[in-house]
Order: sequence, then C-alpha cells, then structure tokens
Amino acid sequence: MCGIIGYVGSKNAIAIIVEGLKKLEYRGYDSAGIAIFDTNNFHVIKQKGRLSALETRLARARRPLKGHIGIGHTRWATHGEPSDINSHPHVGNKNKIAVVHNGIIENYKQLKERLEQKGIRFVSQTDSEVIAQLAEYYYDGDLIDTVIKVSNALEGSYALGIMCIDEPDTLVAIKKDNPLIIGVSGHGHFIASDVPAVLKYTNKVYYLNDKEIAVLQKGAAQFCNTDKEKLQKTLETVTWSIDSAEKGGYPHFMLKEIMEQPKVIKDTVNSILKNGENKNIVDNFDIKRFNKIVMTACGSAYNAGVVAKYVFERLCRLSVDVELASEFRYKDAVVDEKTLVILISQSGETADTIAAMREAKRKGAATLSIVNVIGSTIAKETDFCIYTAAGPEIAVATTKAFSAQLALLYVLAVRFAVQLEKISKETEKELLSEIKALPAKAAEMLKHIDFIQKYASTCIGYKSIFFIGRNIDYAIALEGSLKLKEISYIHSEAYAGGELKHGTISLIEENTLVVAISNCGRLYNKIMSNAEQVVSRGAKVLLIGNCQDIKTNDNFSFIGLPKVSELFSPSISVIALQLFGYYVAANKGLDIDKPRNLAKSVTVE
Ligand code: AGP
Ligand code: GLU
Repeated sequence: MCGIIGYVGSKNAIAIIVEGLKKLEYRGYDSAGIAIFDTNNFHVIKQKGRLSALETRLARARRPLKGHIGIGHTRWATHGEPSDINSHPHVGNKNKIAVVHNGIIENYKQLKERLEQKGIRFVSQTDSEVIAQLAEYYYDGDLIDTVIKVSNALEGSYALGIMCIDEPDTLVAIKKDNPLIIGVSGHGHFIASDVPAVLKYTNKVYYLNDKEIAVLQKGAAQFCNTDKEKLQKTLETVTWSIDSAEKGGYPHFMLKEIMEQPKVIKDTVNSILKNGENKNIVDNFDIKRFNKIVMTACGSAYNAGVVAKYVFERLCRLSVDVELASEFRYKDAVVDEKTLVILISQSGETADTIAAMREAKRKGAATLSIVNVIGSTIAKETDFCIYTAAGPEIAVATTKAFSAQLALLYVLAVRFAVQLEKISKETEKELLSEIKALPAKAAEMLKHIDFIQKYASTCIGYKSIFFIGRNIDYAIALEGSLKLKEISYIHSEAYAGGELKHGTISLIEENTLVVAISNCGRLYNKIMSNAEQVVSRGAKVLLIGNCQDIKTNDNFSFIGLPKVSELFSPSISVIALQLFGYYVAANKGLDIDKPRNLAKSVTVE
C-alpha cells in the first residue's frame, strides 16, 4: 500500500525523490525513507512519521546529500510497527543492495529462517528486509540475474525499486500484483507507484506488467522478462495535467476534489456518449448474453455499486447483486458464463477487488471494470474496461472518483436498458438529457457550501451520527456515513429508514444526530415518519433532500437540493454529504487528506 519512487539521471535525485514522495504520501504515511548513491556509497535516511519529519532530517544533515540515483518510500506498515528501523529502504548486511518494497512477502518467514541459518543478521521486523538480504545473498556480479532469482523465490505481492553499490548507474525495478510505472524524461528515468509522482517531469510512461523487469540508466530504459528475454514496450502519454495533482489554493485535496465534481461528471459522461474507447466498448457491448449482473468492489466503490443496483434493476429489469469484494472472493459465488461481473475501483489496484476479479474469471464469468487509473491491474485484466475521467484523486477519502463512477454507471444502465428493450428510445433520450444536466445541478449544489460549513461546525461534539434513507437514498446514506467516519472519526452508521424500528432505534438518545436523506418523492412520508420517531426520542435531524416547504426548528434542520429525478439524485445528495463530512473534520482540525490508519489504495488483503 506504500508509495515507491526512484530516479536515475543528471539531476539531483534527492529533490526529485522528495518531491515524488509528496505526491505518493496519500498511499501511506507511517514512515518515509530515501537511499541515495553518493560518492561511492549508499546513504540511507529513514524516519518514522510523516514525510515532513524526513525532510527536516534531510535539511539538518551536516553535509547535504547529493547523488544522481536514488530510491524513496512512504510506508503503510503491514509487517512490523511503524518505526525508524522498519522504514524502507532496506539494505542487506553487506550494505551492497538497497530495496524499496510495496506489497507483502507471504513466505518471508521461511526465507528469513533460511538466511539466518547462513549467518545473515536481520535488523527489522518487516517482510521487506528479506528482499534486500536475499538479493545480497544471490548477487554475484549481475543485478538482473539477482533480481530474477529473488523474484522466483518470493511469494506474495511486490513492486520493487533496487540499487546495487557495484552498479552505481543502474536502477532496477520489477513488480507483481502491485503497480509500478516507469517515467521517461530528457534528463533521466523514474520508477513510481503512481503517475502523479512523476508528472512534474514527464507525461511519458511505460506501464510495467507482472514479472517484467525494467533496467534503467540515465539515457536508457530496457525491459526483459524473468527468462531474460528482451521486451519491447509501448511508451504511453498520460493526459493528466500537473495541476490535477496540486492543491490549487484549497486547504485540502478533498475540498478541491469535491469542487471538481461538475467537471468530472461531465467528462465521464462525454467519454461514453461522444467518442473514444469508452464509447466503443459501451456501444458494442452485448448485455443480452447475460441473465444476471454482479457488482463487486470495496468501500465507496461498493457503495457506488449499491446505488447502481437500484438504477440497473429499475431500468434494465435484470437481477443485480452487489457484493463486497472481500466476501465475494471467498464465498464460492454463484456466477458463470451467463453472469456479467462488474468490478468498480478508483485505483484498479485494490487487492480484494483484484482477487474477486480473478475468482469471477476462474468461474467463467465475463468481467467489466470501471476504473480510474489507466493501466492498473484491474483495467488490464478484465475483459472490458471503461475508464472514469476523474483525473488523479489524491485525498484518501474518495469524492470525485465516486461521482464519476455513479455517472458512468447511470449511462451504462440506460444503454443496457435500451438493448434489453426495457425502455423506449424516447425514454432513453429523456434519461440521457437528465444525466447530461447533472454537472449543472452539481454546480448549483455546491453553492450551499456556506450553510453546510456553518451547520457542520455545530456537529463536532456528537459521539454518533446516523444516516437514514429509503431505496436509493439509503444507498447514498451508506456513502455519507463512510465519508463522515473515515475523516472525522465520529462513529457513524447508515440504515434503511424502515430498519430503524428493528433494533437501531434503541441507540437513539439525546445528543444523537440523524441525517435523513429524501429524494424519493414517493417515500417522502415514510422517511419523515422515521425522522419524527427519532426526534421524539431526543435526536436532532438534518434533512437533506429535494423536498419543498420544510419547516425547520432547533431540532430539525434542512438542506434543500436542486431537483433531479430520483434515480440520479445520489449524484447531488452525495455532494452535500461529502461537504458535511469534510467540514465536520475540518472543524475538528483533523488531517483530512490523510486520515489515521488509512491509505488511498489498499493493495494488501
Ligand atoms: C473511500 O473514501 C475509501 N478511502 C475507500 O473505501 C475506497 O473507496 C476503497 O478502498 C476502494 O478503493 P478503490 O476504489 O481504489 O478500489
Ligand atoms: N510489507 C511492507 C512493510 O510492512 C510494505 C508495506 C506496503 O507496501 O504497504 O513494510
């Protein structure tokens, strides 16, 4: 789950690596470290805590480090507590080979025992150190041979950046099940876990596939497989701009990304309706082959699937199951060649979603992914991939990528419904014009920011906040609750309004806040009854919806949403919910973009 970066070229590697780590810190922030080859030796500086702590140490160094080749790491600990010693890079006993690692080495205990029996002394508790020790053990003058032997010995997942003191001009990288890109610029080459880390210097990248080895020097990038056969790879141009990975004057990436949603929805919808690869896939997709759809994903992407279930079932009259990927992968799911499994993932690298995808394929199901990161594992391995056009999302709490997923799923549902002859061309036109109107409605919604900010400032004392809704409002309540809890650390749950009376209502007491969502006009009276039930038990209610003539009082507040048809209303309600969560956390003074214990892409199980 951590971020790795490496550079070899004519510029000062330290500055480039630190800059890259800043862009990767969203992937993990337990510690940060750097190894530089400087005057015939490695210099490794690593430090528990945020990257800023490492920067302070670098600034205090008696002699400023310099070098033209180096690797860096920002960690989300899986094996061994966050500490200086467990931080990466790891170097072997002989101080010959330095390694940064993203992933988990599942057989590290066996390998460690074997090496210890040969007298090799381990200093950290990490699984990753075994890679550096093993590499030194195998090294006999050829770094590529060494990397091949190491990768053959490792079980688990890894993206690795490797430097060797005897080959001071060469940086070697290999990956399996974790992402790694190779950046190409006029002054040198980069390795990185993600594109934003190199965007300042280049938009030309190679995407590394599993078990491909990159051998990088200042003026050369070569690739081979683990049989040492040369590979020709295609240099790709990334369309993401540098600005998209900068805060642009906002206090947090999360707020910037919330504000970008009208554009992101528009770009995503256009990518399917106007032209390009997305349009090709959707236009030519044969949904009639299937008798069932299963959506599987994690976290917010799962919530997008829950919203989509309501939309697909209503429009396509086709049964849709939504499964948590971590459950799907182990449940012996009932899917076969007549099932379309839709995988939803911002990063395209979530370990559970990858495993669910492979399980679905193993069972013969067709797989279609909705992914934001180009060239990611899920994008590459699914039968069909439709990209969301959200651009890089940096805040750990997803906002714009979620909105892009919803928009894409709506268009897909409409297209499938036409193919299945469940809606007329006329209805299709109406629905698509409503979807096209969403960016303007989202922009209108964002105008409520001041009220939400003010209201949220009164909510920081709550111990628990519940979210309720019915049907599609319930689906989006799940996302509102997740947003709030992950960044504000306030306990929160989402319930279907009708479920309250089956147990949860016993938790309602004085000083509980219940956020009720109401965009389903036909269920308005039902959700209002639920609201009254909780108010009469001492709770306060915040109603978010496109209802009219709402009378507010001390116990009952209201955020009015622009009118949108029920099926697409989650795209608007979610903005109110995101802003609410954001401002509660901001008023608590929390580190919103990097909430505790979390990381942006969960590449471990
Ligand atoms: C959302 O705010 C979360 N940080 C998290 O639930 C996320 O949606 C989940 O980990 C899935 O990630 P993915 O979309 O990259 O697969
Ligand atoms: N397993 C390694 C560690 O704990 C790397 C962690 C990661 O990639 O998140 O240090």
